[in-house]
Amino acid sequence: MEYKNILLDYSDAIACITINRPKQLNALNSATIAELNTAITTINNDESIRCIIITGAEKKAFVAGADIKEFAAFSKKEGEALARKGQEILFDLLENSNKPTIAAINGFALGGGLELAMACHMRLASDNAKMGLPEVSLGVIPGYGGTQRLANLVGKGKALEMITTAAMISAEEAKSWGLVNHITTIEELMPLAEKIASKMLRNSPMAISKAIKAVNANYKEGIDGFEVEKEEFGNCFATDDFVEGTTAFLEKRKAKF
Ligand code: CAA
Repeated sequence: MEYKNILLDYSDAIACITINRPKQLNALNSATIAELNTAITTINNDESIRCIIITGAEKKAFVAGADIKEFAAFSKKEGEALARKGQEILFDLLENSNKPTIAAINGFALGGGLELAMACHMRLASDNAKMGLPEVSLGVIPGYGGTQRLANLVGKGKALEMITTAAMISAEEAKSWGLVNHITTIEELMPLAEKIASKMLRNSPMAISKAIKAVNANYKEGIDGFEVEKEEFGNCFATDDFVEGTTAFLEKRKAKF
């Protein structure tokens, strides 16, 4: 597929997706969401790729939110459909990706942009980044999972402060709140993301995918995460990666996954 709104680069076993609408501060319109769905689905099915990094084009924005121009005239029904479809085809897809996903937040991450970063498995930010969920200032609420994932990441009180004030927080604050894992300069952001990704490449992709599934299980209603962990732990024993990992340890050599 030819992409018009995203760039896709591969280096080693790492896929880097850049949202590329810098004139609109990389706002997520429906075409961009559809392209992201295709790219992530393709990568998830590609065994040669073991980690996904998502960032925004240029230095001003990661993603400044859902595209306001696109939904400004929507009806109640269209509004609900926008949230429902977006969550299903992009945000849930990303959260449940079988490869670890890293958001490299290189500027504004607002509304749907912060929601995109929060659907990733971890977040790194450049020191110029600003994050917020400003939806209530537009007369709407976060619709791409922000009310749920922000509270899970930073706790209910801080989440409601961010959502109800619509205020932006700095990268420093985001780090102190646990919203981002690491902060660095804009120049060092992608090298840091690649450094973390390359550590993952040394480990079993099968075990990583099962660990993601088990961690996510804690956040799914009606599912007992401990049960999922026990089952997936057992499933590992029936895999070549388990044989290779344990044999390599016993033979005092590095495992080759
Ligand atoms: N949607 C559509 N276009 C956007 C956009 C968005 N979310 N954010 C920025 N843009 C566009 C602007 O309209 C502008 O385009 P034009 O040049 O054609 O006018 C261009 O990007 C540059 O933006 P600004 O001129 O506003 O740049 P600035 O430096 O003055 O301000 C900003 C930067 C503070 C990030 C400001 O652009 C802003 O507040 N953007 C909107 C942020 C926002 O409210 N996001 C939440 C969206 S709603 C949502 O995401 C719902 C959901 O959960 C599903």
